[in-house]
Amino acid sequence: MCGIIGAIARNPVQNTLLHALKTMEYRGYDSAGICTVSQQQLHTQKAKGKLINLETLLEKEPLEGNLGIGHTRWATHGVPEVRNAHPHQTESIAVVHNGIIENHQRLREMLQASGATFASDTDSETIPWLWQQVLEGETNQEKAFLDTLNQLEGAFAIAGIRNNEQKLWFARRGSPLLLARSPDGVFVASDALAVGAVATEVYYLKEGQWGWSDLEHVHIFDAQGKKAEVMWEAMPEMVAATEKDPYKHYMLKEIHEQPRVFLDILHAYTDGSPHIHFPQATFIETAPLPSRIIMVACGTSYHTALTARYWLERYLKIPVEVDVASEFRYRDPVIAENTWMITLSQSGETADTLEALRLFKRQTPNNKSLVFCNVAHSSMVRESDGLIELYAGPEIGVASTKAYTAQLLTLALFSLKLAHQYNAMDDESVMQHIQALFAAADGAKALLEKPKTFDALTPLFSQAHGSLFLGRGPCYPLALEGALKLKEISYLHAEGYPAGEMKHGPIALIDENLPVIVIALRQYHLDKVISNLHEVQARGAKIILVTDMQKNEIPENINATIHIPEGDFFSAPLLAAIPLQYLAYNVACDKGTDVDQPRNLAKSVTVE
Ligand code: F6R
Repeated sequence: MCGIIGAIARNPVQNTLLHALKTMEYRGYDSAGICTVSQQQLHTQKAKGKLINLETLLEKEPLEGNLGIGHTRWATHGVPEVRNAHPHQTESIAVVHNGIIENHQRLREMLQASGATFASDTDSETIPWLWQQVLEGETNQEKAFLDTLNQLEGAFAIAGIRNNEQKLWFARRGSPLLLARSPDGVFVASDALAVGAVATEVYYLKEGQWGWSDLEHVHIFDAQGKKAEVMWEAMPEMVAATEKDPYKHYMLKEIHEQPRVFLDILHAYTDGSPHIHFPQATFIETAPLPSRIIMVACGTSYHTALTARYWLERYLKIPVEVDVASEFRYRDPVIAENTWMITLSQSGETADTLEALRLFKRQTPNNKSLVFCNVAHSSMVRESDGLIELYAGPEIGVASTKAYTAQLLTLALFSLKLAHQYNAMDDESVMQHIQALFAAADGAKALLEKPKTFDALTPLFSQAHGSLFLGRGPCYPLALEGALKLKEISYLHAEGYPAGEMKHGPIALIDENLPVIVIALRQYHLDKVISNLHEVQARGAKIILVTDMQKNEIPENINATIHIPEGDFFSAPLLAAIPLQYLAYNVACDKGTDVDQPRNLAKSVTVE
């Protein structure tokens, strides 16, 4: 959801900015731009579309200067056009922004009345004009910057430069931003990936912090303007993890990484005994059984919560409520004492999920919150009482794959831990389930060693006008996820449905060009799912069956079958997820879409 970068260095910064934007292109890719300062002037290049267009422009007309900012955009206000690409600027100030300025209309009118001439349709352009206006009446530069920030409503991460000084300004409120440094310079970025190659130390700015840096010193302040301390940490090793070779796409690489991720998670949280440990969520060890669990997330992460509800309710016998974050936060939810809030997020920055967490904490400060997250320094992690880290490594493909199954696996371990702790499962059963999860890692590896198995499915989609995914129990959220994956990268309409609900409406859609993917696993109401399969088959549907049944049990006249190893109550969805991911990937490749950066999407949705 927009990536921002700023750099002040001993050498020209253009290539550093460009490289940083490349690593953050997953955050937004409808336009990009860079602005540097040299000879007391701002120099800007912007291009519509993918970053490669900006790169081509810069090859022809490079930018000089050791101070600069850059931006890769996911449009919120204003269509993706060069005029709306960042940096936005006046003659003397340039700014890049991630987030939304909610009072931009009022600010724009006020600034226009005093002579500002806007060049874009964006909310962001109000920032440089406002900053300039404040500076005209205020000689203290720090005060002027804080006054500017105080007039902005909404969420933002900002980096800014001025033509007549060698200083990099920055602010964080509601959108992620970090500082990084090396002997060669100081950087601000939305994501550590952006500066992993050039910086040795990092500091994640806290909510409300802002400041400026020259080459020698970094100065930071809190929202009230009080000086704050920068606590530098070593930059984590991450550059190698972000190369996609030898795979054609990041998504394919990330699908294939899953068996390794499964093992990393299992080794991190289990020790050969039935005691599962979550070292960053120690409150669980001593907490009484909650009366209710509320799980809130968006998109793919929401689907993992839906699966976990089946696991948790079966053993804990407490209500588990699952909601989409953008609904939860606006529906005046009733939250009683002794309730745990679980948020799930690959990025830890999704605006709606973060706000849902904040609402929960405001309403019931004594209740505990726990986040399942892949980014250990993210806002959700910092604001939760406990973290269960996903250990999936950086996920670059916009469509989530390994973070999805990492969430499923950690949720399975969490469910087992609670079942064990509250005496709903004995040692032996916990051990058996853990072994089944290890077996699933092997099973996933075996499935991925034969990727050609999945090829037979693609031709069934060549004439398709849509598709339907059906499942029951934990396979119902899998059906939702399979459908989401297919539509987001192949642009083919797809719906996930509870298999038993299908005859209450969607069955009307069935014809020979609406492939139906039936997820039929032994663990979850197999006979009933097979009956539903016959219902759609009788109406002429082409059927793709994802199943752990033996070959001789498979119903007749199925158009394509994917056999997966048999799992148990907790491990089965991990295995069934893989063919669904591969199916989406293959259909998208067949259609020639941009698999890693599908249209209109962004990886990290930091606006509501
Ligand atoms: C789909 C996908 C999205 C995200 C959603 C939440 O493939 O990736 O649906 O799951 O935007 O993002 P996180 O998990 O970062 O909160």
